[in-house]
Amino acid sequence: MCGIVGYVGKADVTEVLIGGLKRLEYRGYDSAGVALIDDDRIVVNKVSGKVAGLKARVREEWGDGRYAKATTGIAHTRWATHGTPTEVNAHPHLDHTGEVALVHNGIIENYRSLRARLEGNGHHFESDTDTEVLAHLVGECDKGDLFQAVCDALHQVEGTFGVAVISSREPGRIIAARRGSPIVIGVGDGETIVASDAAAIMAHTQRVVYLDDNDIAIVTADAVELRDLNNVPVTREIAELRYDEAAAEKGGYEHFMLKEIHEQPEALANAIRGRLDFDLGSSVLSGMGTSPRELGELARVVLVGCGTSLHAGLVGEYAFEDLADIHAEVEQAAEFRYRNPIMGSRDLMVAISQSGETADTLAAVREGIQKGAFVMSLVNVVGSTISRETGRGVYLHAGPEISVASTKAFTCQVAVLLMMALKLGRGRRFSRVQGRELAREIERIPELVEMVVAQSDRIAEIAKEYSKGEHAYFIGRGPMYPVALEGALKLKEISYVHAEGFHAAELKHGPIALLEQDTPVIAIACDVPGKDKTLGNIEECKARGARILGLVSERDHETAECMDDYIMIPRCHQLVATIPAVVALQLFAYHVARLRGCEIDQPRNLAKSVTVE
Ligand code: F6R
Repeated sequence: MCGIVGYVGKADVTEVLIGGLKRLEYRGYDSAGVALIDDDRIVVNKVSGKVAGLKARVREEWGDGRYAKATTGIAHTRWATHGTPTEVNAHPHLDHTGEVALVHNGIIENYRSLRARLEGNGHHFESDTDTEVLAHLVGECDKGDLFQAVCDALHQVEGTFGVAVISSREPGRIIAARRGSPIVIGVGDGETIVASDAAAIMAHTQRVVYLDDNDIAIVTADAVELRDLNNVPVTREIAELRYDEAAAEKGGYEHFMLKEIHEQPEALANAIRGRLDFDLGSSVLSGMGTSPRELGELARVVLVGCGTSLHAGLVGEYAFEDLADIHAEVEQAAEFRYRNPIMGSRDLMVAISQSGETADTLAAVREGIQKGAFVMSLVNVVGSTISRETGRGVYLHAGPEISVASTKAFTCQVAVLLMMALKLGRGRRFSRVQGRELAREIERIPELVEMVVAQSDRIAEIAKEYSKGEHAYFIGRGPMYPVALEGALKLKEISYVHAEGFHAAELKHGPIALLEQDTPVIAIACDVPGKDKTLGNIEECKARGARILGLVSERDHETAECMDDYIMIPRCHQLVATIPAVVALQLFAYHVARLRGCEIDQPRNLAKSVTVE
């Protein structure tokens, strides 16, 4: 989603800003722009399209060292919300005087009424964006103190924002603020970088300050001063970035997605390492911060998330009910707070998110806390908003996930959910022996995944038979039903094939009407209770001409023979098997998308971290 970079310091400002935008490309965007303070005016350059285009434009128009003396600037990658992804709608936006420039992530919900009022005061707008309205509002409030102007403007705003603002009257200074959209400030040696994501900062410094909601920062090359929106000073600790530079490179793979699929055995080993207790037949998840008594008193687990993280939650639902004998429910995070859910102190809410910044999941977390539930997070990005606001939880340790399509985060989420369920289960009906058995199965996950990754070339061959169609249907049952949903999501988001996942039994209640000669059906027919019924559902599809790609358990040749093509999934506990099964579908989606020539790491219209509701 949108990305912000701001810089004050001695280095070549344009280069730092564009380098930072490049680091944020993985988040997904459709236009980009940069603004600098040059002596006593602001200069702006914007393009519709990629950062490479912005770089070329800047080189062409500013390449004569004209702005070499600039010390301050802001830049942005925009993921369109209000208005199409044109150059005019790209950020930075200027106020009516052209002296203030602003970049913004989030949504100004009352921008229409603000715009009408400003127009009544003689303001003229060039773009369709909510952000330009905010820029004009700051300009109108500016009576010679940019900090105060930003505070006054933000007091009039409803919605969410992460902003960075500069004024030609105050060179050497950036005002940054957040409500609902992350802002992190890198504190360097004689230079300071403002960004929406630490990825843009790591090349300059490892020392960062995360803004909390309603914090506003006055940023200069040598200092960061923090206040709240009422001008009361606040203190935030300087944190040390733990970002792995190598993980942010493709390392010889054609795409980040392929690299991240291959990284899964290692990522899973990191997620599991030190967290299994074979003696007690349980797991050690100290971040949960719960005593066995508190766990024993829980009445329900509510899992919330969006997209792929929601699918991980659906596997978790099976795990909690099956292993821990506790009532479990999955809630779409976007719906949670609007549904007025019944929650209380005996409910454990687990917020699942790779980024830890997803706006809908964050809103659900806040609602859960409000209702007195026991809220914890299952997040990958250390220090992200959801992990900080829940204050307890379990990190995935999957390493940075750069490709927009989530892969290793999903498998690590499921692995950690299994360990959570094991821990709860041991406090309930699970015996030590049963616990040990499951712990041993969880320990095998990296090796099981390795066995699927090793089949990548074979899956690439199979993908050739399925890459030309425009539709595909995924079916599964039991814990493989969420795997079917996730397989369909992976395929549709990176290959633009219309794909849907169904419970295998649901087909004949409607979706089977979609099947025609050679329609691809990807059937997850591994050993789970009800497999025979799934085989019946597969026959129903074949009878209507569908072409079947089956996921079957290792050595199950009888089932494999029912399929047109098949991929073998190693034999293991049925909940554990969801992980290698999904890896096969990730590879399938990858190879189909590659054959279709799609832009795999940055699919059209998608953003890595969805910070708007
Ligand atoms: C799909 C995908 C998305 C995310 C969703 C939630 O591949 O990546 O569906 O899973 O946007 O994001 P997080 O997990 O960051 O909360």
